[in-house]
Parts: sequence; structure tokens; C-alpha cells
Amino acid sequence: MITREELLGLAREVALRAHCPYSHFRVGTAVAAGGEIYTGVNIEISSYGLTLCAERSALAAAISAGAGPITQIAVACIDVSPQASLNERTPCGACRQWIADLAPGAVIYIDGDTRAFTIEDLLPYAFGLQANRPESQSSSDA
Ligand code: THU
Repeated sequence: MITREELLGLAREVALRAHCPYSHFRVGTAVAAGGEIYTGVNIEISSYGLTLCAERSALAAAISAGAGPITQIAVACIDVSPQASLNERTPCGACRQWIADLAPGAVIYIDGDTRAFTIEDLLPYAFGLQANRPESQSSSDA
């Protein structure tokens, strides 16, 4: 299993490739799944509301690659000051819902904070549909 610091290091590294010409707020995410690492950055386009966050970018990469269960997620906002509050570093609401659906068992590391969060910490009482549960997925795939 990759360590917290290694995964956060990869998140910081990939954040250098963020495409954020409007906010200049670079975010990188690295996820561990099935022994592999997948990364993502925030991607902004001219229609600002269509921005893709780093977390969803990394989750999409993992799912697209057919990755195993996502077990760890590291998020790094490399442009916040060391004194910035946790709120300036944590996944947004949309990304929390993605994590709840796609990586419900993952441990979440936030760069600059020493805790290991679960999605229940970040999004209590998350919305979820029956069809998203693993047992439903396997029966519908059959
Ligand atoms: N951003 C992320 O990549 N992840 C989050 O969870 C919060 C926000 C990005 C979106 C936008 O490109 C920039 O940070 C400023 O909001």
C-alpha cells in the first residue's frame, strides 16, 4: 500500500499540470486503486461552470481504466498558503458526491492536514441510489 505522504507527493506533483487559466488555483488528486495510481487535475474552460475538479478528473481516470476498488485519495491545493483553513483545501460538494458513489471505502488525505477522512466525515447522509451498490452492479452486469 502506498503511504499517505507518497500519495500526497504525487497529488502535489500532478497539480503542476492543472489547467486553470481563470482561477490560477491549482489542484491535483492522486488515487490508489487495485495497486495502481491514477491522477487528475482541475481543468477550466471558457464556460467557467463546466470546470472539472481534480478529484473528479482522477476518479474518471481510475474508472475509465477499469481500476479495482479505490482505497485512498490524496488532494493537494498547491496555491493555498500554509495557514489556509481546511475549507480551502477540501473537495467541493460535487466531488464529495462522486467519492460517495465511486469510492465509498476510500481514505481521504488532504495536503496540509494530518487527518485521514472518510466520505462519511465529509458528506454525512450522502444521497445514493440502490443501483450504485456493488451487489446491484454485479447482478445488472450478469
Ligand atoms: N477545485 C478542484 O479542483 N477541486 C475542488 O474540490 C474544489 C475546487 C478547482 C475548481 C477550479 O478550477 C478551482 O479549483 C477554483 O475553484
